[in-house]
Formats: sequence, structure tokens, C-alpha cells
Amino acid sequence: MHAALPGSQAGRSREGWPCSGLDRHPPGKAKLRVRTRPENVMQSFDETNITSAVLAKVAQATSPRARQVSEALIRHLHAFVRDIEPTEAEWLSAIEFLTCTGQMCSRTRQEFILLSDTLGVSMLVDAINHRHPGAATQTTVLGPFYVQDAPEFALGDDISRGMPGEKLLVEGSVARADGTPVAGAIVDTWHADQDGFYDVQTPSGLETPAGRARLRTDAQGRFWFHTVVPASYPIPDDGPVGDMLKLQGRHPYRPAHVHFMIGAPGCETLVTHIFIAGDRYLASDVVFGVKDMLIRPLETQATGPARLRYDFVLADARPAATGVASPPQQG
Ligand SMILES: [Fe+2]
Repeated sequence: MHAALPGSQAGRSREGWPCSGLDRHPPGKAKLRVRTRPENVMQSFDETNITSAVLAKVAQATSPRARQVSEALIRHLHAFVRDIEPTEAEWLSAIEFLTCTGQMCSRTRQEFILLSDTLGVSMLVDAINHRHPGAATQTTVLGPFYVQDAPEFALGDDISRGMPGEKLLVEGSVARADGTPVAGAIVDTWHADQDGFYDVQTPSGLETPAGRARLRTDAQGRFWFHTVVPASYPIPDDGPVGDMLKLQGRHPYRPAHVHFMIGAPGCETLVTHIFIAGDRYLASDVVFGVKDMLIRPLETQATGPARLRYDFVLADARPAATGVASPPQQG
């Protein structure tokens, strides 16, 4: 089990989500302030006309995209409610679940990304935005443990900073689709330790980053660094997303992997993982992030540490698309 993070101790009873801080008035009994305007004609809303009434309210949205998104949200949300026909208690539980999800977020924990990941939304967004990777390395989820401005290291440095685990050499290269090596590419990498913990899951993680670095490829587009072999791990499951997984009868584990975010001028930024072959959770990753081409064996060497190697290929930068969502980013 992962240690609880600061601020993540809010307990929940079986009755609901106390961290939401909501008063438990039955929704039908809540006091409503109804503002009436003389020019309005009163209308009674029911199951047959509420959806069209709400859709009409967004017809004058500030942009075509805002209107498209708003209309789709209303249509699908109303269809969902009609499908499941929630009780009022279930409606309130859903409100509290979302409230709790937001309250669980902090500088080092993004419960909404976890929710998106575990419902397959992150990978769906990723797939939509990278439909034709061509020769480029395939993408996968960013995950909740990315931290901007990771410490810079020189090629060959040990980035583990004392993390426990079996020694590991990670090496590889960065090239464009035509095979041209990319010199000076920024290689952002982060991973868990032998127990499946990221540095940010420890009390001093933000002050003393470990298993996390930014490096630059050399003139031949190569990079290499020393660290420790990461383990498979459960996503933080002491919050609302963990409770959701239990209700759904799912385990919270991800197969062992090393994260990469690689950027260079003229190229699309690549967000991906390298998964370690043989991991027991490769076929049941809780966030659906595994792709066959991203799995590599842990090579044992006659002398020296185990080795994990990957040669990355960056896609050429596309013109900025409008109306297409960007991959999730943690601030
Ligand atoms: Fe991860």
C-alpha cells in the first residue's frame, strides 16, 4: 500500500463522502432563490422538455466550439441520467464524489487525472490526438506524477538520488521520422522505486526530487542515465478513485514503467512510457496505457547494472489544431 500523502487522510464513511463538506439536505428540500423576470413566460419542465430547454440556453454560446461542447455535454449527460434513473440519494452521492475528487487534489496529487485515467478517458483523448503516428513512437498517458521543472542532470548521472532498488542503466536515442538524430532534445523522465513509490509520494518529495530528471541528448541524439529498476504499483487508492475501483471490482495496479516526455524544436512533444517486459500487470493496466511497441526487456549484463533501452522517434510538429483538446497537463 502506498503511504498516504499529506492532506489525503480525509476518511469516508459508508454513508458518503464527508470531505465534500456538503450539508445533507435532501435536494428537494433545499431553499431555492427563484428570480423571475416580467418578460419571461413561465414554463413547466419535465422529462419531455428539460433537455431541449437547456440546449436552447446555450444556443448563443460565445464560440462555435463552446456551443458544440456545451450541447454535447447536455445531450450525453441527460441521456446518462435517463439511462440510470438515479435516486436523489445517488445524485447527492455523485455530487459528493466529485467534490471529494477536487478536494483531494494538491501540488503532488491530481485525483481528477486519476479519474480520467481509470475511466479510460485519458487514453481516449490520447488516441484521438495521435491517430496517425506513422513511424513516430506511440504515446500514452501523462499520469498524475509528472512535475514541471524537474532537476537537470548530465548524461550518465545517477538520477535515483538514493532511491532503493536494483541498479539500472537507461539508455536510448531520439531521432526524427526520417532517421535524423535530434541533438539537444529535452528528455524529461520520471519513475517509481522498487516499492512502487514516486518521490512526490514522500513527505520531502518536492524538496528532494529522486528518480526524476531532465537531460539533453548529445550530438548524436543519444541519452543515458543511471537509476533503479521501478516496480509495478497501485495508483493512489486511498481517495474517491480508489473507492470507485473497489466498487467496480478492479485492482489499482499499473505495470512497471519509466515515463518520458521528450521535446525538440520542430517536433511534437512525445509523452510516453517504456514498460518492462514480463510484468504481471501488462495485460490489466488500470489506466489502459500499455501498447505493445512500448514494452522492452530488462537486459542483464555480464558486468554492471541491468539495462533498459529505447530508441524514440519524434513526429514532425503539426500546425496548431483548433478545437482539439490537448493532452492532460498537471500544473
Ligand atoms: Fe507511472
